[in-house]
Amino acid sequence: MGLFDGVLKDSESLFKEELALDFEYQPKLLKFRENEQFQIASSIKPLFQKRNGCNVFITGKPGIGKTVATKHVLTEIEQETNDILPIYVNCWQKDTSFKIILSICDSIGYKFTQNKNTDELWGDVSKILNKRSSVIVLDEIDKVQDYHILYSLLEDLYRKSILLITNDKEFLSSLDKRILSRLIPETIEFKPYNDKETYEILKNRAEVALVKNVLTEESLRLISEKSFEMRDIRVGLFLVREAGNIAEQRLKKKIEKEEAEKAIEKLADFKIKNSSSLTEEQDKILNLIKENNGKTTTEIHKLLENDISYRTFFRKLKELEEGNLISMKEENIGPGKKTTVNFGSTKKLDEF
Ligand SMILES: Nc1ncnc2c1ncn2[C@@H]1O[C@H](COP(=O)(O)OP(=O)(O)O)[C@@H](O)[C@H]1O
Ligand SMILES: [Mg+2]
Repeated sequence: MGLFDGVLKDSESLFKEELALDFEYQPKLLKFRENEQFQIASSIKPLFQKRNGCNVFITGKPGIGKTVATKHVLTEIEQETNDILPIYVNCWQKDTSFKIILSICDSIGYKFTQNKNTDELWGDVSKILNKRSSVIVLDEIDKVQDYHILYSLLEDLYRKSILLITNDKEFLSSLDKRILSRLIPETIEFKPYNDKETYEILKNRAEVALVKNVLTEESLRLISEKSFEMRDIRVGLFLVREAGNIAEQRLKKKIEKEEAEKAIEKLADFKIKNSSSLTEEQDKILNLIKENNGKTTTEIHKLLENDISYRTFFRKLKELEEGNLISMKEENIGPGKKTTVNFGSTKKLDEF
């Protein structure tokens, strides 16, 4: 009997392709979003006949496949034709008109960007885009600081489909009438996956990421239940990776219930890791809150040493709250009010 048969050797790993657990990874197989992809594709179809396409407003909670489904459609366009330029911009990172245009330059391989202002650059880019048709995806559009770019895209491009993605269902109502009357988008609302779909998706991702048979059925169930509870596939991806790491630390050849449970205990970290998509400023604010748990908004704002106005600061807090990274509580004090801020979410899971 080998006493150490179940022990993971130095050179062994439970992961086969850990990358497949990254949130940005593009899975080959994209189940359960056929309808949504079909709807997006229908809006783009007129471009194939050299007519103008329809614009699309894509909304739904975070972590339910809006980005990945849209990117899949872009990949298909790329494989299908050279007449349509598929362009994807993430507005978390590119949050001004200028940065967005630079990112478009990057996508189309236009290099003469130096010493040009927004208008000059857009002049060059729009000429190139107008030689063909284009599908332009602005993901996380609510993070853009000024919407002038939307106006330019709508006015200056002849044949295009503009796809706007955001978790904020009410986003359109924040747009100026001039933009809205030109956009007239079709809305596609993504609904969270049900429990079976969540299970299936995570099973597939784990199969790509992990060595065969290392994830026990029981662990997978625990992980997918948690992911379903939070209506966010990223939770499940985080848990598979975390449980795998814990099992490796324990030199185990299987990821069992104990590791899945331990990983679930670390879910609070997920929220922080998840904040890697935060802007530098939000990150700074989040860290301040972490160090000053329970203080009031005014107190924390003061700690920022007037880097930003209180109004901007409060808007940032709201965004962090929406992302479940912090929670805020308003209390009456004498004639006035104060709002205290806590790191992490105090919401119950079913409120997510
Ligand atoms: N149907 C699916 N099949 C495989 N992976 C999926 C599916 N739906 C979502 N995912 C994965 O879940 C994670 C979150 O999806 P994402 O598209 O980023 O969500 P959203 O844009 O709605 O916030 C990503 O890693 C994505 O690859
Ligand atoms: Mg997304």
